[in-house]
Amino acid sequence: MSPSGPRPELPIGVFDSGVGGLTVLRALEAALPAESFVYLGDTARLPYGTKSAASVVRYASQCATALAARGVKALVIACNTAASAALGELAQRYAELPVVGVVEPGARAAVGASRSGRIAVIATEGTVRGGAYVAAITRLRPDATVRGIGGSVFVALAEEGWTEGPIVEAVAHRYLDGVFHGAGAPDALLLGCTHFPVLAGALRRAIPPTVALVDSAATTAQAVAALLAARGLARAPGTPPAPTRFLATDGAERFARVGSIFLGRPLAAADVELVDV
Ligand code: DGL
Repeated sequence: MSPSGPRPELPIGVFDSGVGGLTVLRALEAALPAESFVYLGDTARLPYGTKSAASVVRYASQCATALAARGVKALVIACNTAASAALGELAQRYAELPVVGVVEPGARAAVGASRSGRIAVIATEGTVRGGAYVAAITRLRPDATVRGIGGSVFVALAEEGWTEGPIVEAVAHRYLDGVFHGAGAPDALLLGCTHFPVLAGALRRAIPPTVALVDSAATTAQAVAALLAARGLARAPGTPPAPTRFLATDGAERFARVGSIFLGRPLAAADVELVDV
């Protein structure tokens, strides 16, 4: 970060293990139109979801250091696995910056959407294993029951750009059929992984219509907006933002091709700068 600390004109740094966090970036750009962003996807080391917590903390720290060195006024951990494992450490290390992870905002969205307090969270193996969602949801609603579903195959499908079709539907049924039937079934399904919003159509069709399907992108954007305002770091409304910068640790062409699906607008390989972290 800059030697004099965060300043409103600096961009917001956002990172993920790859392109999935672009769903969060999209929500941030929509909610904070005056802000500039620099997004880092650690594509060289994706997936984080099957790695040990110790490795994920190390990778996340390196991503945060790379963004902070470029001068950012806030850090958004747009990766559930990284936020689950490393938010505490990064918030402590970058105490002068607002550091926001997607877990707490996602938990808030799920608690808001559930009447019964029975909530299912579909996420990577690492996120489920770490228990961060159980902790965040029960902090907000102590009587909640949380069922974690490890859904790492969805990450591979989304990375492949397979967001619809019989294979995606079959995987959705395989993961979800046993969870949403019978008495005591959850009434909310939280997408606890950045890659899953692009699969929302298939997920929606695999669960009963009465079950709320929620993700953390919009609530994360609200949390960032609130923190910037509280710390006097928001840019004045109407200020034109600089174009978003995209950094990746490997594969600019693939980042652009698959990332376009997550971002919802075209990206070219030339828009992506390869970096070492
Ligand atoms: N970004 C990760 C997450 O949200 C999913 C992809 C991965 O496993 O790295 O948990």
